[in-house]
Amino acid sequence: MTGAWGAAGFEAAFAAAGPIPGWLTRGQARDLYDAGTAVPPGGVVVEIGSHHGRSAVVLASALPEGARLVAVDPFPDDWRYGAAGTEQEFRAHTRRAGVAGAIELRVATSAQVRADWSGRLDLVYVDGKHDFWTVRDDLGWADLVAPGGSVFVHDAFSSLGVTTALLRTVLPSRSLRYTGRTGSLAHLRVAPPSWADRARLLAQLPWWLRNLVVKVLLRLRLRPLARALGHHDAADPY
Ligand SMILES: C[S@@+](CC[C@H](N)C(=O)[O-])C[C@H]1O[C@@H](n2cnc3c(N)ncnc32)[C@H](O)[C@@H]1O
Repeated sequence: MTGAWGAAGFEAAFAAAGPIPGWLTRGQARDLYDAGTAVPPGGVVVEIGSHHGRSAVVLASALPEGARLVAVDPFPDDWRYGAAGTEQEFRAHTRRAGVAGAIELRVATSAQVRADWSGRLDLVYVDGKHDFWTVRDDLGWADLVAPGGSVFVHDAFSSLGVTTALLRTVLPSRSLRYTGRTGSLAHLRVAPPSWADRARLLAQLPWWLRNLVVKVLLRLRLRPLARALGHHDAADPY
C-alpha cells in the first residue's frame, strides 16, 4: 500500500492511521505525509519514537517504491505511555495498514541506533523521549540528513524538554532552519538559516508558555481556565 497516490493518498493513509492510538493530529499527519512523498525512490526516513505506529503508518504510506522507514523505539515497559505489548501493537497496526514491508523496526534507543549508523537520510521525525538531553541527542540525526531534507519535531512547543533542546540546537546552528509549525509539530530544513528564521522560532515562545500553562491547568482539573486560554480539548495541546 506504499506509494504517493496523489490527493487520495493522504485520505487513505489517515483512514488507516487515525484509529491507531497516538498524539499526531490530522494536520500534522498531512505534513509528514507530504514530506514522505518528496522522498526519492530508494530514500531513507528515520522515525524516533514509534509507539503504536500512528505516525509510522502515515510516513510509510507516503513513500515511493524502494524507499524505507527505519522506525526506532526501545519499547520500554517503564516509559510513561509504554506497556508490555506495545511492540506487538506496532507490528499488528503496520501489517494491517499494508505498510510493514516498507518499515524496518529497530527495537533500541535512538542513541544506540545512531552510534553505528552510516549513510545519508532524506527525512527524520523526532518523537521519542521528551527530556532535554535525549532530544538534544536525537537532533544529532539532523547532521545525517541530505541538504534540503526535512527534520520534523513533535511536541516542539508543548514540552519543556523538547522546546529547550530545540532552541539550544537550532538557534546557534548554521545548517538547520526553522520553517514553521503545525500545532506543536516543528518543521526544520537542512539549509543555512537567516536571522529572520531564528526570530520566527523565538516568536513561538509565547505560544509555548501558553501551552505549558494549559497543561498545568488540565492537571489541576481547571478546564474552564484552559478554555479561557482558547484550549477546548480535554487532551494536552499538541
Ligand atoms: C510520543 S510516543 C511516539 C508516538 C508516535 N510517533 C506516533 O505518532 O504514534 C514516544 C515513543 O518514544 C519511545 N522512546 C522512549 N525513549 C526512546 C529513545 N531513547 N529512543 C527512541 N524512542 C524512545 C517510547 O517508547 C514511545 O513509544
